[in-house]
Amino acid sequence: MPTQTMSRCLLAVAATSLLVAIEASAQARNSGRDIGAGCASCHSQNIALGKIPSLAGLGNAELVARLIEFKSGRRAGTVMPQLAKGYTDEQIELVATWLSSESTK
Ligand code: HEC
Repeated sequence: MPTQTMSRCLLAVAATSLLVAIEASAQARNSGRDIGAGCASCHSQNIALGKIPSLAGLGNAELVARLIEFKSGRRAGTVMPQLAKGYTDEQIELVATWLSSESTK
């Protein structure tokens, strides 16, 4: 293959990879947002259903840690242990990322 054709080919591969990566990150953001919509029904500050803690300012790592603790039973709770069991570790990462960044923008 001539060098010029090869460069074009490599450029096309690089551009495609970049598009795939951008698309994947948009999908991850959307998944986090979709899961997070369910969390907001209880955790939103506009709804006063007893003592539901605010998630604002917890940060990504802390959110993941607490959700994993609920899921594994190391952290006590009423609804959260059951809820957390319904999500994969990957979904927990996605929603924590959403809640700690995008949702507050
Ligand atoms: C049905 C209402 C409800 C929904 C829906 C809900 N939560 Fe909760 N959440 C609670 C309650 C109540 C607590 C206090 C612990 C308990 O009793 O389970 C809590 C506690 C937490 C905590 C610990 C906060 C702290 O200060 O320690 C985290 C983190 C959390 N929820 C994240 C989430 C996420 C993420 C979602 C969505 C996947 C979610 N919650 C959906 C009711 C809810």
